[in-house]
Amino acid sequence: MKRHLYSVAIAALLASAAGAANAENLTVYCGADETWCQQMARGFEEATGITVDMTRKSAGEIYAQIKAEAANPKGDVWWAGTGDPHLQAAEEGLTEEYTSPREGELLDWAVKQAEAGQHRTVGVYSGALGFGYNKDLLAKNNLPEPKCWADLTKPEYKGQVQIANPNSSGTAYNTLATMVQLFGEEKGFEYMKALHKNINQYTKSGSAPIKAAGLGETTIGIVFMHDAVAQTAAGFPIVTVAPCEGTGYEIGSMSIIKGARNLDAAKKYYDWALSAEVQSKAQEAKSFQLPSNKSATQSPLAPDLSTIKLIDYDFKKYGSSEERKRLLKKWDDEVASLPQ
Ligand code: F6P
Repeated sequence: MKRHLYSVAIAALLASAAGAANAENLTVYCGADETWCQQMARGFEEATGITVDMTRKSAGEIYAQIKAEAANPKGDVWWAGTGDPHLQAAEEGLTEEYTSPREGELLDWAVKQAEAGQHRTVGVYSGALGFGYNKDLLAKNNLPEPKCWADLTKPEYKGQVQIANPNSSGTAYNTLATMVQLFGEEKGFEYMKALHKNINQYTKSGSAPIKAAGLGETTIGIVFMHDAVAQTAAGFPIVTVAPCEGTGYEIGSMSIIKGARNLDAAKKYYDWALSAEVQSKAQEAKSFQLPSNKSATQSPLAPDLSTIKLIDYDFKKYGSSEERKRLLKKWDDEVASLPQ
C-alpha cells in the first residue's frame, strides 16, 4: 500500500514537472511606469495563459543590462522606454529583427522608428518633453511661473529643479539631445551647465522628479509632459508646461532581445502590444502617451502634440551608438563634474 502511494506521488510530481516545462513563459524588461508595466504583464497573462516575469527599469539601465547579458540573454522582450537606446541596441545587434503583421495599423512615426532600427524595434507611443511645477510650492516660495527652458536656469530657481541622470534615464537623455538640437551643441551644453546649478537631485528614473514635485519635495520637475499630467490626474497640485522655445519628444519603443529563449511568446507579446485594444487601455493605468496604433483611443487628459511646438528630433542620429555614447560621456565630463 505504502509502495503504491509512493509511486502515485512520484507520477504526480513527474506530470506536474512536465506541465511546468511545457508551460510558456516570457521575461519582459519594462521601461514604462510600474502601474502600466503591471497592467501589460497581467493583461498578457490573461489573454494568452503565458506567464510573465516583468522587471521595471529605466531605458539606459535596460540597454546596459541587455548588453551585459548578450552572451547569455535572460530577457525576451524590452517593452517601452524612450526610443534612443532601443535604436542603439538595434545598431549593436542586441535585438532581433521582427516585423509585426500589425505594422500597417501604426502611425507613420512608429513605422519610421522601425525603419530607423532595421526592424529590430518599433514605436509603441509618443510624448513631448516639458516640465511641471507644484503651484502651491511656487506660490509659497514667491517664485514666478516658469514658461520657458531658459527660465529654469535663472538664479531664483536654485535648488528648485529636479531631473534624472541621462545615463540611467531615457527622459534625461532625451532632454540632453533636445537641448543640443534646439540650441546647437555648444549652447546646448552651456544650457545643461547653467541648469546644473539649479538642480537639487539627479534621479535614476525619468518620472521621479515630477512625483517628487507632487509630494512637495521639489518645486519643478523636468519630465515628459504626460508624466506631469498623470500627477495632476492623481490629485497633486501640478501644472504642466510646454516650454516656449519648443521641445523634443520621444518615440517609446519595443524590441525583442537577441537570443530570446522564448521567441514565439515574445512575438505574440509584440503583436498583442501593438493592438488598438491593448494600447487603448493605457489611460486606465494613468499613462497619457499618444498610442502608435491608429485606431487606439487616448484619454482627453493627454497632451495634444499637435498644439506643441516640436523640434524635428533626429532619432537616427541621437539613437546611434556613437552619438549617445559621446553625449553621455561629454555630459559626465563637462556637466555632472561641475560644483553646484
Ligand atoms: O512611462 C513614463 C515614461 O516617461 C515613458 O513615457 C518613457 O518612455 C519612460 O517613462 C522613460 O523612463 P526613464 O526616463 O526612467 O528611462
